[in-house]
Amino acid sequence: MAKGRFITIEGGEGVGKSTLINSLKSWLEETGQSVLLTREPGGTPLGEELRKITLHEKVDPKVELLLFFVARLQHIQTKIAPALKSGTWVICDRFSDSTAVYQGVLRGLGVPYVESVWKAVIQDESLTPDVTLLLDCPVDIAFGRISKRKDNNKFEAEERAFHEKLRKAYLERAKAYPDRIHVLDASKAPQAVFNSAKEFLK
Ligand SMILES: Nc1ncnc2c1ncn2[C@@H]1O[C@H](COP(=O)(O)OP(=O)(O)O)[C@@H](O)[C@H]1O
Ligand SMILES: [Mg+2]
Repeated sequence: MAKGRFITIEGGEGVGKSTLINSLKSWLEETGQSVLLTREPGGTPLGEELRKITLHEKVDPKVELLLFFVARLQHIQTKIAPALKSGTWVICDRFSDSTAVYQGVLRGLGVPYVESVWKAVIQDESLTPDVTLLLDCPVDIAFGRISKRKDNNKFEAEERAFHEKLRKAYLERAKAYPDRIHVLDASKAPQAVFNSAKEFLK
């Protein structure tokens, strides 16, 4: 059986990741493809427990990083890898690029540090997405979209400068991995974003 494709969706809060993911799932299922939607942090019972801590409790950046890694390893072992092996496509809302950008750049640990810790711990169970779609739009637009959201997590509650820095860090990451990470203009209407996403998945 052909291995499934591993697709990750990245970008700041409010850029439209969840919206796009739902459209992609319906589209792929219509073609007969089996699809698993999942998210980080989370995706497994252990991961969802850790999600509550990582998204709401302020902890030391290194502690935060390790919590994300515990959740990710569990996620890969119990969910993502078995699905891919059985031919299911996996679409994951955030993955390794989020860790590189949030903990590596925003929390100041450095991307090389983040990647070396991951490699040392995980070794051959590491997984690189086949395709990553980065949704990018001006911070004001994303802010406008999530202003009505209740219970914002600790990252969403950060100041504007944090979100500007986040956007820049994501775009730099996309430049470093041009074959894998595709930047989509997320300021466009949902249907337009979806249409451009499809181009990269055909
Ligand atoms: N392209 C878009 N244009 C306008 N509004 C959008 C678009 N994509 C999503 N939204 C709306 O913006 C809000 C945040 O979208 P969501 O998909 O939850 O973003 P994310 O998962 O990246 O935080 C939702 O209310 C959603 O309906
Ligand atoms: Mg979302």
